[in-house]
Amino acid sequence: MTSFDSVEDLVLVAGATGGVGQLVVGKLLEKGLKVRVLTRNAAKAEEMFNQRVEVAVGDIRQPATLPAATQDISHIISCTGTTAFPSARWEFEQSPNLIEWGITFLNPKSSEAKAKNSPAKVDAQGVSNLVAAAPRNLKRFVFVSSCGIERKNQFPFSVLNAFGVLDAKQKGEESIINSGLPYTIIRPGRLIDGPYTSYDLNTLLKAKTGGKYGVVVGTGDTLSGDTSRIDVANACVESLLHPSSSRKIFEIVNQGQRPPAINWETLFSGLK
Ligand SMILES: NC(=O)c1ccc[n+]([C@@H]2O[C@H](COP(=O)([O-])OP(=O)(O)OC[C@H]3O[C@@H](n4cnc5c(N)ncnc54)[C@H](OP(=O)(O)O)[C@@H]3O)[C@@H](O)[C@H]2O)c1
Repeated sequence: MTSFDSVEDLVLVAGATGGVGQLVVGKLLEKGLKVRVLTRNAAKAEEMFNQRVEVAVGDIRQPATLPAATQDISHIISCTGTTAFPSARWEFEQSPNLIEWGITFLNPKSSEAKAKNSPAKVDAQGVSNLVAAAPRNLKRFVFVSSCGIERKNQFPFSVLNAFGVLDAKQKGEESIINSGLPYTIIRPGRLIDGPYTSYDLNTLLKAKTGGKYGVVVGTGDTLSGDTSRIDVANACVESLLHPSSSRKIFEIVNQGQRPPAINWETLFSGLK
């Protein structure tokens, strides 16, 4: 059973302060669901969510910070991530000078070693840590991964993976699949719409995806294109509500004409 069947259900959102994560939290609250956010920055989360969520301070790279966050939760939605290419968000031990940035870009392995929040540390090790801390009776682990994992040698994914982001996302997916926990793995294309970092919660929920394009899902990693953060967040939340999304791995992009309402049950149940 994966749908909400108890007033006791509590959803942990990791990466809640990010572009997709903040929309996920907003949509969970809109549906009247209880939310705990895992964040490295409690003040940021409290301001962002008007104190309407439980806040657990933690860092997925640090296993000791996770048990308090995962206690008594029923579902996890993980939207954590860092940049695909070296940036300040990789948290280098020392701020690189211009020459060191040059070396960094020429030598992905050495830059990875010097970075504290690289894809390998967040998307691979961090996700594995979160899986290990999840309650064994978890009803669903929803993971925001990426298109291209099965096409790492093809352009443009070969370029996207120059610093190993797709390798790391794949390891994150494998940790979840091998854990035996019920999961849904969502692989967006290039993210558009947001992040809406200066919005309050009410304004955030009014954000629309341009209204132009429909939602297309597929398996086997053949889809490419843009994906609205709003639809990734919708897919995360709707996954919890539809048992047909359990143990599914799918790509999601925006294409074609947008119908008046997206029928998530039809989309999930049509996946192989
Ligand atoms: N950008 C694209 O085109 C694209 C395409 C496909 C898939 N994706 C994936 O889609 C997901 C969502 O993207 P987004 O744009 O919403 O991401 P985002 O805005 O960069 O948000 C990332 C979130 O991860 C959190 N985080 C980073 N390191 C962490 C750590 N060590 N411990 C705990 N939390 C940590 C950040 O928290 P802080 O506020 O503490 O930093 C932030 O809340 C990401 O997984 C990304 O890899 C992106």
